[in-house]
Formats: sequence, C-alpha cells, structure tokens
Amino acid sequence: MPEVINATLDWKAGQPFASAFQDVYFSSDNGLHETEYVFLQGNDLGKRWQEPDLAAFTITETGFGTGLNFLCAAKLWLEAAPENAILNFISVEKYPLTLTDITTALQLWPQLSNWTAPFLTQYITLLDTGTIRLYNNRVQLTLMLGDAYEQLCQRFDKTDAWFLDGFSPAKNPDMWQTAMFEQMARLSHSGSTFATFTSAGMVRRGLMSAGFKVYKRAGFGKKREMLHGRWAEVCHDG
Ligand SMILES: C[S@@+](CC[C@H](N)C(=O)[O-])C[C@H]1O[C@@H](n2cnc3c(N)ncnc32)[C@H](O)[C@@H]1O
Repeated sequence: MPEVINATLDWKAGQPFASAFQDVYFSSDNGLHETEYVFLQGNDLGKRWQEPDLAAFTITETGFGTGLNFLCAAKLWLEAAPENAILNFISVEKYPLTLTDITTALQLWPQLSNWTAPFLTQYITLLDTGTIRLYNNRVQLTLMLGDAYEQLCQRFDKTDAWFLDGFSPAKNPDMWQTAMFEQMARLSHSGSTFATFTSAGMVRRGLMSAGFKVYKRAGFGKKREMLHGRWAEVCHDG
C-alpha cells in the first residue's frame, strides 16, 4: 500500500488552509452554511430523504478534508430519513488530516458536537480500516485513501448523489479532469444528482460531455454561481 501523506495546514483566522494547494477547505463566510446550501440543497437531499420507502442512499464525495460535509449530511440523514434506512457515505482523500488537525477544525462547529464526538472517536480506525459505522449503525462511512480518479476507477456500486469538493479547479485541476467525469458517469444511474461550489467552464463542459444535465444557481458567499444537476445519458444507465 502506498505511504499516506497527511495534509499540511496553515490556520488563517482560525480556519484551516491547505499549504500545498493555497486554498481553503470551505468558504470563509461560513463553511457549515456553505455545505448546507451547496451540497445538501444542491442535491435536494432534505426532500429526497423524506421518501417513506427509502431503504438506503449512497453519497460519493471527492475530497473528505475536515469531514464537515460528511457530518452535515449525517445530521440531516438522522433527522429526515426513515429510521431503519442506511446512509452509505463514500469519500476519497489523498491527504487526510491528522487527528489533531481534524479535531481542531471541527471545533469550529460546536452545533455539530453531538455528531462530531463519535466520529472523532473512530477517526483512527477509519484511517486504518477504511470503513466505520456510526449513529446506531444508521450511517456507514467509507474513506478511500489515495487519488480520487484512481480510487473511483476501482468502484462498481452506483451513487445517488455526488459532492464535488476538490479545491478550486484552477488550483487543483487533477480533481476535475474529463476522465474523472467519465468515472462519475459510469457510477451514476438515472436518478443520480451532483452539486459543486464551482461554476468553472471546464467543469460545466466536462460534466455535460460525460452525460450530465448541468444547471447553474446562485453561488454561496462570494461565489457568483455554482453548478448542480443530474445524470441524463439514459442509454449508459446499467
Ligand atoms: C476543499 S477540500 C474538501 C473539504 C471537505 N469536503 C470538508 O467537508 O471539509 C478538498 C480536499 O480534496 C483533497 N484532494 C486534493 N487533491 C486530491 C486528489 N487528487 N485525490 C483525492 N483527494 C484530493 C484535499 O486533500 C482536500 O482534503
């Protein structure tokens, strides 16, 4: 197994900043509200999770970072989804935070502390084994360590919603390549949706050419627009 390299963080006004990418982990305006707006609302999860017959739901995220998106999704799931349904949250991360750094980063959100504490207790197990179960087994978290494209190539199960969160495309083009969008298409079905904070033209065009229907909506904070959409290429739906 290749050696895992932890993220090197700077802290700017108390917020984590990735030295290697010179980019933020989330909006300095309010990371938690950004997650709710961009990823949860962008994939219409509050509404989709109220379906009484829902048995399971899979989210795949590119870039686990501080786990903020995961914790917000898990919280909403526990509030909105049927009690016996399982959330399968899969994330890819090439540079995982150390336990010390992720603990410090998540202290920014005291309102999530009920969900953060059990997650942090199992964080080292997650890094060691790749999968943990949380919150009375209602949520399964899988963390694939390594390059997002290489890791997605190894997956076969379809995803219901995508969180595309791999730093800005200008600073980290590896996370936004055509080949990555093609893997997303392979792992999508006719109900799959995606959301991302960026509205970069290369991302919009890449997703469209891979078969996604792409929409723009107002962005969060200083961002003018963001992208969201759904898998549309029915003939590839296996
Ligand atoms: C904007 S941050 C993600 C924030 C995160 N979703 C959260 O809730 O805190 C982007 C993440 O992508 C990771 N990353 C960058 N390049 C990557 C690659 N090629 N493969 C996998 N992860 C990568 C970074 O290490 C970083 O953690």
